Amino acid sequence: MNTSIEDIQAVIENAAQKARSETSTEPEPEFTSHVKWPINCTVGPGLEGAIACESKVGFVNGAKGWLIYSGYDIFDLCAYSTYEEVSYLLLHGHMPNAAELKDYNARLVSYRSVNKTLRRLMSLGIEEMNAMASLRMGSNLMRQDFTHLDEITGRARPDDAIGADEDSIPMETPPKGEAHAIYEFKKRKKRAERSDSAEGLEACYHLIAGVASITAAIARTFQGKMPVEPDPELGHAANFLYMLTGKRPTPIEERVMDIALILHADHGMNASTFAAMVTASTLSDIYLSIGSGIAALSGPLHGGANEAVMIQLQKIGAPENANQWVEKRLSRKKKISGFGHRVYKAYDPRARILGPMAEMLVKGDADAERIFATAREVERSAGARFGAEKKIFPNVDFYSGIVYQTLGIRPEMFTPIFAVSRVAGWVARVHEYLQNNRIYRPRAMYSGSFNLKYVPIDKR
Ligand code: CMC
Repeated sequence: MNTSIEDIQAVIENAAQKARSETSTEPEPEFTSHVKWPINCTVGPGLEGAIACESKVGFVNGAKGWLIYSGYDIFDLCAYSTYEEVSYLLLHGHMPNAAELKDYNARLVSYRSVNKTLRRLMSLGIEEMNAMASLRMGSNLMRQDFTHLDEITGRARPDDAIGADEDSIPMETPPKGEAHAIYEFKKRKKRAERSDSAEGLEACYHLIAGVASITAAIARTFQGKMPVEPDPELGHAANFLYMLTGKRPTPIEERVMDIALILHADHGMNASTFAAMVTASTLSDIYLSIGSGIAALSGPLHGGANEAVMIQLQKIGAPENANQWVEKRLSRKKKISGFGHRVYKAYDPRARILGPMAEMLVKGDADAERIFATAREVERSAGARFGAEKKIFPNVDFYSGIVYQTLGIRPEMFTPIFAVSRVAGWVARVHEYLQNNRIYRPRAMYSGSFNLKYVPIDKR
């Protein structure tokens, strides 16, 4: 990579400046200290505009293009912070001091090794599965290894068996060569007591560290390679890259991954966060909630868009094909992956950083330069076609894949990497919501029939 940490810093500072100047005429948002329920809000399809809870974790202002994590601007966090600090901030609501960060780092390092989970996961044939499906299974297996919630207590003893012979089950025929039909059922053992650790902060730390390790191991399995043991000397982003590629990253590669992880860590009440919170609100547990988050993130309208963008760019092939491709796509009323957002009506601040960062990182690699030039041409053509009024811009997923590819990461791992980061937002918001939980239970407008009379099947 032909660049420096200072160049990356400059990209972020330029992006911040551009964001401020381009949206300076938008009104400042009104701030609310506490919500007094019930509240009135206008709700559109897909719960557009619905307010589902109060939160201090983070804030998105679509008109100004703001993304705030617990009071801190995303541009500042990308320029100066690390994923460890940011995930701590989201979970605890304040920046850690040196002692808190040291302790937190040590906890994350201690949870990086998820060997038992990996052994089980590897036995499930994941090399032939979708990476997000595998990750979802991995998060469930982490639950079992950490909480032992489903474990059967005590070992089976002979007198636990319920024996039965042909007298008690008279209809059965004795097996060949046996005088009696003999059945032995093991009594169902009492389930282990629910563990506090399934909701507590330790489980959140375990998930933040473990989802990264599982994702790295899935990537290795896809390449027919063995998982790599974590390196306790490396920071979160560097260790993740190391476990993913088997090579210790350069400081630039580490910084690039750290910024990508910071950028994706939280984003208001997005679909996967909401899915995780809905599951948690039933007093299921945090591991199953994160499984719901992973499932929701996988779709191409959400996190799955980053992989879809790369497939789209490869299909377009070259910048000179972009305009015609965009025209055709939009005239058929099809969406362009990596564009548009429910909340942003200004340029997505995450794409403001990832776009120029991708541009810098592709230099010197002809294939990567062509993909980037194609993306820029799609952005230009689509922008011209949408017009300024529509306020449809590239979102976080449009350039992130190009950045990941410069780190040697394959497209099937792009969405799991989104989860490696977003797990911090999921656990933070679930943890916060559970302090004052109320089960999520919206309504549907029934527009079906009434008073239909049951007709027997042969008369229908
Ligand atoms: N390409 C073409 N037209 C678009 C696009 C797009 N990507 N996005 C929105 N529009 C148009 C849409 O056709 C509609 O036009 P009209 O009013 O004329 O019918 C208008 O913009 C509003 O779109 P919508 O689909 O009603 O918006 P939404 O808020 O329901 O959906 C979205 C938001 C992100 C699902 C949508 O923009 C989309 O499908 N984008 C492509 C997939 C994508 O990139 N997803 C990643 C989102 S950002 C990261 C994340 O959260 O995971």
